[in-house]
Amino acid sequence: MKAGVLVAAPCFAFGVAVAFGATFVGGSVSAVEAPRPVRDVYLSDCAVCHGADGRGTPEGPSLLKVGAAAIDYWVSTGRMPLPPGHHGIRIDRRPPKYPRSEIDALVRYVAALTGGGPPIPRVSTVGANVAEGGVQYRLNCAACHSWAGNGGALANREAPALYASTPTQIAEAVRTGPDPMPAFGTAAITDTQLNDLVAYIETLDHPDDRGGNPLWHAGPLAEGAAGIVLGLGAIILATRLIGTRT
Ligand code: HEC
Ligand code: HEC
Repeated sequence: MKAGVLVAAPCFAFGVAVAFGATFVGGSVSAVEAPRPVRDVYLSDCAVCHGADGRGTPEGPSLLKVGAAAIDYWVSTGRMPLPPGHHGIRIDRRPPKYPRSEIDALVRYVAALTGGGPPIPRVSTVGANVAEGGVQYRLNCAACHSWAGNGGALANREAPALYASTPTQIAEAVRTGPDPMPAFGTAAITDTQLNDLVAYIETLDHPDDRGGNPLWHAGPLAEGAAGIVLGLGAIILATRLIGTRT
């Protein structure tokens, strides 16, 4: 009997240790999940709406020949994958669902599946002409995104602010024209002008506010009005202080 306990106890302890060890190993294995093969990501997150072959379904348009630039724009700005049931509502920028490496793999996979279309544009702002970029911006973009890049109202939807966009996303938007924004080809904006434009938009992220308070970049009218009100107020105050009552 005693001998039985003496044998059983270490056996039990060993058994418990093995069991715990197994759960521990099991736990750590599932915690460091191996990255899903990109085809599985597409089939589980995109195919419901765009079809397993990318030719579209009633829930989402065909992606045939849509091109890497558009795929990267929609996925890296978090607009895709669209949550189910959101078809037909306004699609806004959100934090991207995947890490950068998975986005790259997905873009390559979907671009190969659907063929053709513009590649991701290469942008470089090294040596760019910011002043020329400003000219292009006011000519082509300010009407919708406002002169300060903080977005603006359109007839049926708002043009978003540009502060969150990376240089590549700006170039992708310009070249692919995410509806209702028009696409600008190289005839309208050359690659050099696109670099200038991106460099200019980057300066809007950190505006060089000369001459005091920027007043939320509301524009010259608001600034003028504030100037008049504050300026007049100061003059009246000064007159009252230096003047004497009779
Ligand atoms: C719930 C449905 C749904 C899911 C899931 C979904 N999409 Fe979409 N997708 C749409 C709809 C609807 C549009 C059209 C949006 C518009 O034009 O306003 C669209 C547009 C796009 C576009 C732009 C097409 C064009 O012609 O410019 C791309 C690229 C895209 N989706 C890629 C993806 C990828 C990649 C995934 C998976 C990571 C995905 N989508 C998941 C519904 C979906
Ligand atoms: C007719 C109005 C219009 C014009 C002109 C226009 N845009 Fe847009 N732009 C939009 C709208 C609307 C969207 C949102 C599209 C979407 O939901 O994907 C947008 C989206 C963008 C985005 C993506 C922002 C984000 O939230 O990620 C960038 C970047 C951009 N535009 C840059 C430009 C630049 C640069 C120009 C000038 C060359 C320009 N746009 C001209 C209306 C316009």
